[in-house]
Amino acid sequence: MKYFYFALLLAPTAGLTANAPPQVSAQRFVDLQQGSANFAGFRRAHAKGICVSGEFRANGKLADYSKASLFRNGTTPFTGRLSIAGNNPTAPDLKSPVRSLALSFTLSRTEQWRLAMNTPPVMAVADPHTFYQQIKAIQAGPAAVKQFFTEHPESNEFLAWAGQYQPTGSFAAETYHSINAFYLVNANGKQHAVRWAMQPTVSVAATDLHGDDALQQEITARVAAKPVVFDWVFTLAEPMDDENNPTKAWPDSRQQISAGQIVLTGTTAQLEGDCHAINFDPLLLPSGIAATADPILRARSAAYAESYRRRAKEQLHGALAGSNNE
Ligand code: HEM
Repeated sequence: MKYFYFALLLAPTAGLTANAPPQVSAQRFVDLQQGSANFAGFRRAHAKGICVSGEFRANGKLADYSKASLFRNGTTPFTGRLSIAGNNPTAPDLKSPVRSLALSFTLSRTEQWRLAMNTPPVMAVADPHTFYQQIKAIQAGPAAVKQFFTEHPESNEFLAWAGQYQPTGSFAAETYHSINAFYLVNANGKQHAVRWAMQPTVSVAATDLHGDDALQQEITARVAAKPVVFDWVFTLAEPMDDENNPTKAWPDSRQQISAGQIVLTGTTAQLEGDCHAINFDPLLLPSGIAATADPILRARSAAYAESYRRRAKEQLHGALAGSNNE
């Protein structure tokens, strides 16, 4: 079974209604994600990554749907991060079944937009509590995983994707999905549910890659030679599509709009780059983008904050310890 990504723990809390799933504790989520490993100062998930920089070149086609300024014709710079799943900042690149892209845009003095995307188009489960059950099963081993998926048919689309996914030979050749849906909000206040994907403009076979840092070395050399480009494609929901359920893809027939191109022009090792100090919280949104009620989004936001809090504290202590030693 090619699964893996999220090692999270959810804790039942008091005050729940009869049918509501137990609430998530961000602390327990992150406790499980970091496990017994101690990689102080690093993210508790997606710990291994590389900073990227570049700009979004908007074509203006989404401006009628969202008043976010970056969708008007023109360019907006970003700081980003390419990463692999897991809590180990030195893990072998090619062992990870999930690859990721995160972006941070500054739209104005008061507006930022943080996006964190993964290669699967859907999640296996629709709420944080069931995610907990899934991770417990993964930790218990293959028999428990098999039983979990038998008991959770909502995982079928994810399993179908995982069964056919072929990792490419480059971060530049993957498709990165929002998975969770958001609303575009236009100048008249009209909102429309969407998902998006960063679609590659090159294909790269997974050959001639060697070493633990194969993907980082490949993307560093590729970007140094030529900018790496993705099309930023939005899929618009129809009224019958459920924007709060990340396990279900919407039909292929849904309208798609390319808003422009994401152009990567620089890479920097994460400890030397701007991305290390960013929390790519998916609920940090500008005017013109709004969150859906998808409960996974809330769990993500809380867990990213807890992971950020821990790593920032460790970095501070590390810096203070370093200065005391001088
Ligand atoms: C309940 C579900 C999830 C939880 C609890 C969770 C938890 C986390 C945590 C704790 C981090 C580290 C944050 C930091 O220290 O900055 C992280 C990073 C990340 N997550 Fe999730 N995650 C979840 C679902 C997802 C989903 C659905 C996606 C994709 C759409 C995703 C994409 C990412 C990416 C790309 C990063 C790395 C961002 C970066 O480069 O800093 N996660 N996640």
